[in-house]
Amino acid sequence: MKARRNEGSKKPRCGGAAAAAWLLVPLFVLVVLKTDSLPELTRLRETIVTQVSVETLREHELRSKVSSSALESEAIVQQQQKLLEVAKLKAVNGAQKTTDSVAGAPPSPASSDAIASDGVEGVKDLRQEKETLAMKGEVDGSLRSLDVVAAPTMTKLSCNFSSERMNVCAMEGDVRVHGKVASVYVVGPSDDSQRPANGTVTIRPYSRKWEETSTMQMVREVAIRWSAKDDTGPPQCTVTHDVPAVVFSTGGYAYNFFHTMTDIVIPLFNTAREYGGRVQLLVTDHDRTLIFKLRHFLAALSVFPVIDFDADDAVRCFPLVRVGIESHKELGIIPALSRKGYTMMDFQAFLRSAYSLKRAWAPPANRTSGQRPRLLMMQRRKSRALTNEADALVAAREIGFEVVVAGPDVVKNMAKFAEVVNSCDVMVGVHGAGLTNLVFLPRSATVVQIVPWGEMKWACWSAFRDPTPDMGLRYVEYEVTAEETTLKDKYPRDHAVFTDPLSIHNEGFTKMWSIFLEGQNVTIDINRFTGVMRQIYQFVSIS
Ligand SMILES: *[C@@H]1O[C@H](CO)[C@@H](O)[C@H](O)[C@H]1NC(C)=O
Ligand SMILES: *[C@@H]1O[C@H](CO)[C@@H](O)[C@H](O)[C@H]1NC(C)=O
Ligand SMILES: *[C@@H]1O[C@H](CO)[C@@H](O)[C@H](O)[C@H]1NC(C)=O
Ligand SMILES: *[C@@H]1O[C@H](CO)[C@@H](O)[C@H](O)[C@H]1NC(C)=O
Repeated sequence: MKARRNEGSKKPRCGGAAAAAWLLVPLFVLVVLKTDSLPELTRLRETIVTQVSVETLREHELRSKVSSSALESEAIVQQQQKLLEVAKLKAVNGAQKTTDSVAGAPPSPASSDAIASDGVEGVKDLRQEKETLAMKGEVDGSLRSLDVVAAPTMTKLSCNFSSERMNVCAMEGDVRVHGKVASVYVVGPSDDSQRPANGTVTIRPYSRKWEETSTMQMVREVAIRWSAKDDTGPPQCTVTHDVPAVVFSTGGYAYNFFHTMTDIVIPLFNTAREYGGRVQLLVTDHDRTLIFKLRHFLAALSVFPVIDFDADDAVRCFPLVRVGIESHKELGIIPALSRKGYTMMDFQAFLRSAYSLKRAWAPPANRTSGQRPRLLMMQRRKSRALTNEADALVAAREIGFEVVVAGPDVVKNMAKFAEVVNSCDVMVGVHGAGLTNLVFLPRSATVVQIVPWGEMKWACWSAFRDPTPDMGLRYVEYEVTAEETTLKDKYPRDHAVFTDPLSIHNEGFTKMWSIFLEGQNVTIDINRFTGVMRQIYQFVSIS
């Protein structure tokens, strides 16, 4: 945990704007190799560009058609979003009679049974749903007209501070949320045994609790205040919702895609999915860029636009409020800890639905009928870059793969890239946030993690090896040797960098980071790489 955590904690300090920039956005395809001179490069570029083109993606038979929308321009996507909003509103208006509620929180018949029966089933329905994304959320929500618990008479406050990853509280009854002052008021008698000792519980709603002095300092603290009705507080409701609310933060290291996924997206799924779309998301440390980037996911999770918690001066009343989201482990879910018993397979099915991904699993490519397994190479640029990537790609192509290259630069649309990833059978990359995109791979696809020099296995394992089995992915590791790292151009072979890498780790995180994570590129041994990729090829294709 140390090394990965360090990677996370380090980025803001070392990365600077430039390094952070590519992490802000999902890696996206297209880019080809930088040099123009070599003939193979030109050949390769043509291949790659064609492979990534809309045509190829559309025609690729194995990978059942990719919906055109996601491959078209941002403008179209946005337009579609608007249409969906309209559709949502219509569905909402059609499905219910609005009473006194304001701000897009349509009331609907209460049924806690419906809540209980949703969950995984809802995911399955979603999976089958052929309609467009946000509609799915709506259909899922309104057809079931589940949501809310009818105003419970009893006030309940239950918190769980025992996880090392996050703190969470759930409140039911008369719960009033005032985002601007970061307060959640739980209205109940002052002699109630649930009342916290000094009346207040505070939570930073981000799932990296153990990074108390670093990450968590970037997360706004939310106070849960037990308030008796006769106090000077609590404030009167200005908006009444009849759906549950979930409060979470997009602060922390959320701009790094690995952290986006492991700290926010998965825990949020865990916490909010059970409401079948009828849940209000309240975001503290609201990061516009991230919210926009995650819009498809968020729209599938909730039919309501997210609310910028810190800017919100309304006093919103909800029948149920959850502060904090439920994180179990890196890039994973522990079903036994999940209220609904969710699994990573459920999560992946949900992503496929949210991003209209067609392939649930990757059948082997049939060589006899000319199919080639698709190999996605995740590029890195500034550090841990493959210096001879062109050669590696040529080798992969010669083995029989169809090669797709994903560079960090043309990165705009997570949905587009999710489709590209989902169309592939093998993902290859040096350890880094880009590999997080493996969540979009179809089941039985293969992930090849190139582990940089310097005893980096531990971090690499916990980030990307350990999560793969639960996602039905195969994992192959390629550990860089002393011959394959560009560190050999900087340090003599009798230097501790080579003779005792762990001693560098022991010198502290900054040093480890700057040498082994920021300080090396990889010049892969093409013969060795070819051997590994050949085996994988045999595995992912049949004749
Ligand atoms: C609190 O969280 C821990 C760790 O996530 C879990 O093991 C425990 O069962 C939870 N306790 C309750 C009462 O839910
Ligand atoms: C209440 O106690 C908690 C620790 O139990 C502390 O963090 C918090 O600041 C206290 N709040 C007030 C208002 O004193
Ligand atoms: C592979 O393709 C060939 C030719 O199209 C076909 O005869 C064969 O049955 C296919 N193999 C499998 C396992 O589908
Ligand atoms: C890695 O290669 C990139 C160019 O691809 C270069 O800009 C960077 O400085 C190199 N980093 C190291 C640590 O050698």
